[in-house]
Amino acid sequence: MQYFVTSNSPVADNTDCVVVAVFEQGELSPSAAILNEKSNNHIQKIIDRGDIAGKAGQTLLLHDVDGITSPRILLVGCGKKDKTSENDFNSAITAIAKALNDSGASNACSFLAEISLSSRTKSWLVRQTVITTESALYKYTQTKSDIKPQDKPLTRLSFFAADDSEEIELAAQTGKAIATGMNLARELSNLPGNVCTPTYLAEQASQLGKDFDSVTTTILDEAEMEELGMGSLLSVSRGSRQPAKLITMNYQGAGDERPVVLVGKGLTFDAGGISLKPSQGMDEMKYDMCGSASVFGTISAIAELKLPINVVGVVPSSENMPDGDANKPGDIVTSMAGKTIEILNTDAEGRLILCDALTYSERFNPEVVIDIATLTGAIIVALGSQATGLMANDQDLADSLIEAGNDSHDRTWQLPLWDDYQQQLDSNFADIANIGGKEAGSVTAACFLSRFTENFTWAHLDIAGTAWKSGKAKGATGRPVPLLVQFLLNHIADKK
Ligand code: BES
Ligand code: MN
Ligand code: ZN
Repeated sequence: MQYFVTSNSPVADNTDCVVVAVFEQGELSPSAAILNEKSNNHIQKIIDRGDIAGKAGQTLLLHDVDGITSPRILLVGCGKKDKTSENDFNSAITAIAKALNDSGASNACSFLAEISLSSRTKSWLVRQTVITTESALYKYTQTKSDIKPQDKPLTRLSFFAADDSEEIELAAQTGKAIATGMNLARELSNLPGNVCTPTYLAEQASQLGKDFDSVTTTILDEAEMEELGMGSLLSVSRGSRQPAKLITMNYQGAGDERPVVLVGKGLTFDAGGISLKPSQGMDEMKYDMCGSASVFGTISAIAELKLPINVVGVVPSSENMPDGDANKPGDIVTSMAGKTIEILNTDAEGRLILCDALTYSERFNPEVVIDIATLTGAIIVALGSQATGLMANDQDLADSLIEAGNDSHDRTWQLPLWDDYQQQLDSNFADIANIGGKEAGSVTAACFLSRFTENFTWAHLDIAGTAWKSGKAKGATGRPVPLLVQFLLNHIADKK
């Protein structure tokens, strides 16, 4: 879909449809009021008759309204006037995307960015409109054979701008880049484990390197990881026929500045290993590479936007399978950092591949390192699918991520990483155990990682609850690409 800026008034706009907001209690947005006046009170009459109550996400399509140039008007409910929330707005945008796509209009002009939404700017509303529209229109088709093309899909959406057209254009572009990154993340995540293997992810990373001159991809194979002493990472892939890969995507946008390193868990299928998971819902463990997918999506977005920053994406990728050669409970492996690890549960494999990737990250002399991982089921119990779990060894970095989450409405919630929890990882036979018992599972997982991040500023994002949905709407969400891109945007702005 393409996005444009226009200075046509809603009355004179000549797209196939003008989209305006209405609110509860029959209140009109400024553009709805203009249409109402020009159409001789037509809009108000319809509302007073009770055809649309203004609830967030309600839509009503009007045709051939007298006095209005466009052949269609789409009225969209945005909740209570001056009290529209981010969630109301997203529901409204989702409903618009679906209504327009089914309407026969192939282009439209949205006047929704004029409404007041807490402290959000018009640019924010435009950016969010693009992200939410693209999300609503995303459809997974890669492994389906009965795909019918949409009759008359929506292909162009414009936004009204007056003297702020440059700003609005930039907001639309930013939204489009984030949405493209999210869709890349969703697509990789939704692919099944027999297609999206570590080798496949490595090929996708090479493709990003070809698509953007600013991105350089390198792939390490198992022999090279062996050389580096990545005994922990390699122990996880030993039980799999698919060779592990360590993928590095280096985005250069700011000369020799120290980079932000993003480390994404790329477990392309997590059966649990010898500590086998129950079969119920095990298919969802193809999503155990959503952390890596968010790194792909973020690199794609920032390369598209040509952001002045250096970012290195590091993706340790492997399967976790039961096998005669797989890790066994009680096995002890030696990490790249030299620490020995007693594997008490082979299903706590994410931390085993991440610890070596985190040690590897040191070579980039990072300003900060952020890992993104579907690390624990416990984070879903704690925070549900609303917030990403955040833990960090530096409060300034944690605060920046919380702020970026609020800015992008892709939010995080911080959990403690106090020393008090560290003793849960004590082992009788190795330097550290890979599980910390029943209590505080998400925190002890982060504690494990913290043992490998002592030399740099680091934060951990546990996205097990936010990266995909289960149930009827099963599928990847593309989170936390918006959060990560926002963090990088803020990071650039802070430096100025
Ligand atoms: N990939 C899982 C975490 C997970 C579970 C993500 C459910 C999404 C939904 C991870 O590798 C795992 O198995 N973690 C274990 C850790 C436990 C053995 C300490 C878990 O959360 O049960
Ligand atoms: Mn696991
Ligand atoms: Zn896992």
